[in-house]
Amino acid sequence: MKLIYEKSKPGRRASAIPQYGNLPAAEVPEELRRAEPPRLPEVPEFELIRHFTELSTRNFGIDNGFYPLGSCTMKYNPRVNERLVAMPGFANLHPLQDEDGTQGALELEWRLQEILAEVTGLDAVSLQPAAGSQGELTGLMLVRTYFEEKGESEQRRKVVIPDTAHGTNPASVTMAGYEMTPVKTDPRGNIDIDDLREKVDEHTAALMLTNPSTLGLFDEKIEEIAAIFHGAGALMYYDGANLNAVCGISRPGDMGFDIVHINLHKTFSQPHGGGGPGGGPIAVRDILEPYLPVPAVTRKDDGTFGLDFDRPRSIGKVRGYTGPFGVFVRSYAYIRMYGPRLREMSEAAVLNANYILARLKDTYDLPFDRLCMHEFVLSARNLKREYGVTALDVAKRLMDYGFHPPTIYFPLIVPEALMIEPTETETKETLDAFCDAMLAIAREAAENPALLKEAPHSRPVRRLDEVRAAKHPIVKFGFEAHPALSGEPRPVAVEAPKGA
Ligand SMILES: Cc1ncc(COP(=O)(O)O)c(C=O)c1O
Repeated sequence: MKLIYEKSKPGRRASAIPQYGNLPAAEVPEELRRAEPPRLPEVPEFELIRHFTELSTRNFGIDNGFYPLGSCTMKYNPRVNERLVAMPGFANLHPLQDEDGTQGALELEWRLQEILAEVTGLDAVSLQPAAGSQGELTGLMLVRTYFEEKGESEQRRKVVIPDTAHGTNPASVTMAGYEMTPVKTDPRGNIDIDDLREKVDEHTAALMLTNPSTLGLFDEKIEEIAAIFHGAGALMYYDGANLNAVCGISRPGDMGFDIVHINLHKTFSQPHGGGGPGGGPIAVRDILEPYLPVPAVTRKDDGTFGLDFDRPRSIGKVRGYTGPFGVFVRSYAYIRMYGPRLREMSEAAVLNANYILARLKDTYDLPFDRLCMHEFVLSARNLKREYGVTALDVAKRLMDYGFHPPTIYFPLIVPEALMIEPTETETKETLDAFCDAMLAIAREAAENPALLKEAPHSRPVRRLDEVRAAKHPIVKFGFEAHPALSGEPRPVAVEAPKGA
C-alpha cells in the first residue's frame, strides 16, 4: 500500500475555501512565521478518507474478532457506554468547573468509588491513578507513608513478589524505592509457602500478588499467606488485573489484602490496548485512607457531592484532577448493566476459560492440571520437542485463522507459554471456532511445520524481527523522512528511552 505522501500531487486539496479578497491578512507574529509552508500531503478528501479507512482495516481490535490476550481481559466494549460518555453533560465538562456545575459527574465518581469498595471488600477508594501500573506505584507510596508514620520505613525495605508476577510489579517496586524479594511457585501453581516463610521477616514491607495468579489459578493458601505477612507486621497488596475472575464471588479485602488496584479498562470494559486509555483506582483498608491522593470525592452531610483537598497526610496527587473521567462513565455503565448480578460476569468468564481448557488440554501441554479461573496457561513445549514448532509459531498461525493470538512466553516460569483469556462476552460458537483452530494448528505442526514457521500468510504484515524490534524500537519517523517529499531519504528515527 502506498503512503499518503506517495499519493500526493501538487495542488490537490481536501476542501475548497472561497477566496474573500477584502479580508485583512492574518497577523502572525514574526517569530512564529515559517520560511516555507509545512510539507503536507496534497490529496482530495475522498483519497484521504479511503487511505485511512483502508489502514484501519489492517488493524485488529476486539470489534474485528476474538482477542484472547491472557492477563489483558480484552472484553467487548458495549456501544451503550460510548453513547453515555458522549452525552453533552459528560462530554462538555471542564475539570475546573465549580462543584455546583458538576454535581452529576461527582455523584457518578462517588457511586463508582462505593461500588469498587464493595467489590474489593475494602473501606475507601481513590479513582485517580490512570492505569494498573500507576495504581501499583500509588499503592506502594501509601505503604511507604504508612511505615514512615510508624517509624519503620528504614527497617522495612523489601517487597515480596512471586515468580509468576507481571513485569509492572517489579518495576513499581523499584520505582517506589523498595527491594524486590522473589518467591517461588509450588507444583500446584500456588505460592511456595516454605520458600515464603524464609523470606518474610521484620524487614518486609508488603506482598504484591494477583489472585488468581497469572497462571489463572486461585491461590489455595491465601489465608495462610495473609497470616504470614500480617504476623510480620507487613501489608498485603492485591494486583487487581485478574479481578474479572472473582467479582461478586470473593473479595480481596476478605482474603486479607489491604490495598487493591482495579484495572477499570480490563474488568469494567474500556477500549484499551497500545498503552491506553485506562483507569487504575485503588481501594484500601481504613488504616491507609488518610494517605490516599487528593482531592477525595466525597458526599457531604447535606447530600451534595464535593472535592476534599484538606487531607494533610495524603501522598498528594498522582494524576490531574480526579482521574480519567471518560473511563469512569464507561465502567459505571458496565457495572450498572449487570446490577446486583455482577457475579454472572465473572462466572461466565470462568466458565468460558474452562470450556476452552477442556477442549485443548489433551493436545497442548498443561503445566498445572487444575480447574482454572478466568484464564489459563498452556505450553507448546510438546510441539517444540516433537516438531520444532514454538508458541510464537502457533500464535502467528492463529492470525491466519482470524484470531488475535493469546499472550505468549508469559508467565516466565512456563516454557513456550500460551496464556488464553476468553472473557465473558464471547459466544460458544466463537469459543468452538477458536478451539478448532488451535487443534488444526497442532495437526499442521505434525504434518507441515514449515507452514507454521512462515505464518502468518494472510496478513499485510508477515513475520517481524521481534527481537530487533524489542531491542531497537523505532517509535516515530519524521514526515520529512519520505523520499517523495524531499528527494533524499532522511530517516529521523527516534529511539525509545532505554528500558521503556
Ligand atoms: C497481572 C497484571 N498486573 C499489572 C498490569 C498493569 O496494568 P496496566 O496495563 O493497566 O498498567 C497488567 C497489565 O497488563 C497485568 O496483566
